Amino acid sequence: MITIESREKSRILIVDDEPANLRLLEKMFKAEGFCNLVLISDPRKVQEAYCAEPTDLILLDINMPHLDGYHVMAQLQELGDPLLPPILVLTAQTGRDFLMRALNSGARDFLSKPFNRYELLARVRNLLDAHLALRFTFDQKGALEEMVRKRTAEVTQSRLEIVQRLGRAAEHRDNETGRHILRMSNSAALLARQVGWNEDRCDLMLYASPMHDLGKIGISDTILLKPARLTDEERAIMETHTTIGADILSGSNDELLETARIIALTHHEKWDGSGYPRKLSGEAIPLEGRIAAIVDVFDALTSVRPYKKAWPVAEAVEDIRQHSGTHFDPELVEHFLKILPGVLLIGERFSEP
Ligand SMILES: [Fe+2]
Ligand SMILES: [Fe+2]
Repeated sequence: MITIESREKSRILIVDDEPANLRLLEKMFKAEGFCNLVLISDPRKVQEAYCAEPTDLILLDINMPHLDGYHVMAQLQELGDPLLPPILVLTAQTGRDFLMRALNSGARDFLSKPFNRYELLARVRNLLDAHLALRFTFDQKGALEEMVRKRTAEVTQSRLEIVQRLGRAAEHRDNETGRHILRMSNSAALLARQVGWNEDRCDLMLYASPMHDLGKIGISDTILLKPARLTDEERAIMETHTTIGADILSGSNDELLETARIIALTHHEKWDGSGYPRKLSGEAIPLEGRIAAIVDVFDALTSVRPYKKAWPVAEAVEDIRQHSGTHFDPELVEHFLKILPGVLLIGERFSEP
């Protein structure tokens, strides 16, 4: 809203090399209630004064030493300010050529000296009102953009949360604990970074890998919680947790869900082709699945489960090493060994309570 008050508080730069002119204009404006006037007699100081605070109007003389009014306008335009205020040229010069040049150089309006004070003030009010309306719209736009940014961040956050809770839903069907998911996913992101992935892809790994066993929600309790060894038939059903998980996660355009689908489907494939569900081998197994396989097995080995003790780190490492080239991608095993200290730190950070 433009009020008399906001108009009177407008910042107005008055540029004239004649101190007497400056004083005259100052007096005139103050009498009308304008209280934020910046008087500049050296045109070389206009840019600095302009940049110091948002300005709403500039009154500009043309003939000045060092830098004429045209150059001042050119300097201001170079700043690329989307809210460049109107420039009102005040000059003793007259004639169509001069007028055209001033307008083409960026002046919004002009008045010839000596000017009539009422005419000047009327023009100043008009120009100010137009500029204040523009500033108001601009501020509104900024506020809207800020709101959209905030909402987008909220949506992203809630999306991540849903995805993480989906991973937790899977844990509840299983002996594995919530801590396993945290250790496994953080280690997966660390290994991805070691492989040279960028931050965004590492984050995808971090948020997608908790869903690797999501398909276990489709496996019956009698099999999932069976305390004894599974029969061949039961094992075959158990293995379908990969395809069930991939099925639940399929059909989305979302990068995160698609990454989660790939991991769910391929985290039990083995480098030598003896894994499941599709017996993929070597690089036919997506790297996401190969990464998940190593960190998942390593954490399972070093954790307590109802049917086993936690292996000492050295033995688990030895096991991973021994299965390099059969179960695991050999190059990835080398990378994993390099980040082992980091993996162990993650283990401490998310240790079982
Ligand atoms: Fe699994
Ligand atoms: Fe797991």
